[in-house]
Amino acid sequence: MSIKILGTGAYVPEKIVTNDDLSKMVDTSDEWIMQRVGVKERHISVNETAADFAIYAAEKALASAGISGSDIDLIVAATISSETLCPTVAGMVQKAIGANCPAFDVNSACSGFLFALDTAVSYIMRGNVKKALVIGSERLSKLVDWSDRGTCVIFGDGAGAFVIEPGDGYLSSMLYTSGGNEVIEIPSFSGSSPFYEGEIKHPYIFMDGQETFKFAVSKIVADIKKVTQDAGLELSDIDYIVTHQANIRIIEYAAKRLKMPIEKFVVNIEKYGNTSSASVAIAFDELVKSGKLKKGENIVMSAFGGGLSSAACVIKW
Ligand code: COA
Repeated sequence: MSIKILGTGAYVPEKIVTNDDLSKMVDTSDEWIMQRVGVKERHISVNETAADFAIYAAEKALASAGISGSDIDLIVAATISSETLCPTVAGMVQKAIGANCPAFDVNSACSGFLFALDTAVSYIMRGNVKKALVIGSERLSKLVDWSDRGTCVIFGDGAGAFVIEPGDGYLSSMLYTSGGNEVIEIPSFSGSSPFYEGEIKHPYIFMDGQETFKFAVSKIVADIKKVTQDAGLELSDIDYIVTHQANIRIIEYAAKRLKMPIEKFVVNIEKYGNTSSASVAIAFDELVKSGKLKKGENIVMSAFGGGLSSAACVIKW
């Protein structure tokens, strides 16, 4: 027994910021961003928080599952950009949808949604949770230094959510962490303690782009191979691959190294940029809504990012 996905949902804020808009703020161009990253535009919050996005995505996932908030036994949300450490994003969702169940957040940066999914799957496999809501939600625009062209062109805001229940559709999974702050670091608020003599860091995304790129391309290929093998499948048995949308070049590289047609990869980075823990959930929701998925098809989800971390799983639809 494992799980099946009963419903999916996604939400992005209304405001669209294009590459041309950004080129008026920093020294960049649509051509550079499209060539080096593959992003054309991103949705950016004007007044909504990561908790608000999570609530809207959760409501859509519940509607697509045909159940109500009171049917949910567990809520796990992945986020690195909540407005509050307490309450959690999951707790805010719990209240908004009228659920009466434990709710907590997990943080594994861009791999967070797959860490949250694997956590919820484990609870379902223990038998005491029948229906769980898993969410990835980010207002990354709050963590971006908007004067740094190396990062502000990459990221976007949004959320995605799954409703899962017991089933036989989670064939394999893996989670990976290689801790350290050398490659990616997002400091949190350091406080103002008169007794603290440690370094005070600005709470913005720091990323060594090239090291992140190297990590991403090596892990995405190795992880997809591993979960496929662990599921007892060949790469040719995989119908769709839903990866973290960090850079179109990473996805193209993976397709080439795995000798898989790029058409099998869900790609939406052009519209949303990198939405961290929301990205795989948003892309998966788009795949579901496209109507292309057929019963019995195999889908790999794969994510990587800060931590450093990576995660992957195989879903049978
Ligand atoms: N517009 C124009 N030029 C830019 C730019 C921008 N937005 N950002 C950087 N540049 C410049 C740099 O200043 C540098 O100029 P120089 O050669 O004169 O010094 C040049 O472009 C190359 O910079 P570099 O950092 O080497 O570019 P890159 O090809 O590595 O692309 C990333 C940068 C961030 C897009 C790329 O490294 C990447 O996608 N990394 C992975 C990110 C990721 O996966 N994140 C997920 C986890 S959060």
